[in-house]
Amino acid sequence: MYSANHIAERLRLFQSAFSAIPHLVCYAVKANPALAILQLMTRLGAGFDVVSGGELERVLTVDRTAADRVVFSGVGKTAAEMDLALRTGILLFNVESEGELALLSERAAKLRKRARIALRVNPDVFAETHPYISTGMREHKFGIDIRRARAVYRNAGKYLDPSGVSVHIGSQIRSAEPFGAAAQRVVKLILDLRSDGHAIRFMDTGGGLGIEYHAEHAFDAEEQVREYAAALIPAAQSVGDLKLLLEPGRFLVAQAGALVARVLYVKKNGSKTFVIVDAAMNDLIRPALYQAHHEIVAVAPSRSSKKIVADMVGPVCETGDFFARDRKLPLLTPSDLVAILDAGAYGMSLASNYNSRPRAAEVLVEGRRARLIRRRETVEDMLAQERKELSL
Ligand code: LLP
Repeated sequence: MYSANHIAERLRLFQSAFSAIPHLVCYAVKANPALAILQLMTRLGAGFDVVSGGELERVLTVDRTAADRVVFSGVGKTAAEMDLALRTGILLFNVESEGELALLSERAAKLRKRARIALRVNPDVFAETHPYISTGMREHKFGIDIRRARAVYRNAGKYLDPSGVSVHIGSQIRSAEPFGAAAQRVVKLILDLRSDGHAIRFMDTGGGLGIEYHAEHAFDAEEQVREYAAALIPAAQSVGDLKLLLEPGRFLVAQAGALVARVLYVKKNGSKTFVIVDAAMNDLIRPALYQAHHEIVAVAPSRSSKKIVADMVGPVCETGDFFARDRKLPLLTPSDLVAILDAGAYGMSLASNYNSRPRAAEVLVEGRRARLIRRRETVEDMLAQERKELSL
């Protein structure tokens, strides 16, 4: 379940924190690609950061005219994805390798389209986060070494218009400092590129601003965005004639969403208590994949003030299928509903059919109205793409 007002509020925080300079918030679609959420974003004036042809198609499905607000990131764009983006005329390709630059130049020549490009540079900045979602160090697969970028821009070819520089140092980063450090390195490169004769108009600083998943720690979203803006705005202003592109995902949608699950059983194995719910790692993989913490609350206030210490687990056949371990939880009994909080980002977008479990329904709450924005997947949906016949 998602709150539309919460998402709108978070987007407004970004838009107002950066209002002093030309900017565009390009929502990172991968965080939550629900069409209704994209619809909400486009209505509120956001652009989009996409990483596949599929995400671009989603954006175009909600708004045929949104292409000029789309940036296309990702280390493995295919020729077909490039063609789609070239034909629709997106704002910016964030190019991540020389091979990609060569292929994009070839596709653009073939389609006789000029494409605006930014190299995604790797600034070699360390940012404290989970190793799986840190991206800004030289040994990561992302981007092009910032020291080589100038030479690569020179080889862009006549169908490509070098018009920006982009960077993305990772996700769930809680301090503004590494963003500022990366932006300063990008600024230096922009000045060099301008002196080489390239008309650089865009600085894309990626996404990555983190949230607080633990209820016991205070979190002031407005202040976080203000500090983030304070790290980036001076960098952008030091260049001038620049539009800042931002790609937040998690910060806009994570805390707007909860995964609602029903308690199936409460069981004891030795000294441990397990609360088994009907959602699982196929619905929200973050605890299993990143040892992520998500707060869990009972939907209805508990009849008892008693607490238990338990693991909350799903029905999937893996020990890694858990939502909480040794957590103090309200006294829960079968059929109670629980809300697993801050699941609006990288919840549904990483959901799978593992264990042949149909994916959950999605509901968007707008004020007093609740709307089904994706119906519950059925077993028939799941099987529809398969064929059981063998050719033997
Ligand atoms: N831009 C680029 C190029 C990205 O790769 C990402 C995220 C974003 C923007 C948005 O980052 P955000 O503002 O959401 O941090 N599944 C992981 C997160 C993976 C992030 C991947 N890239 C998780 O659940 O923590």
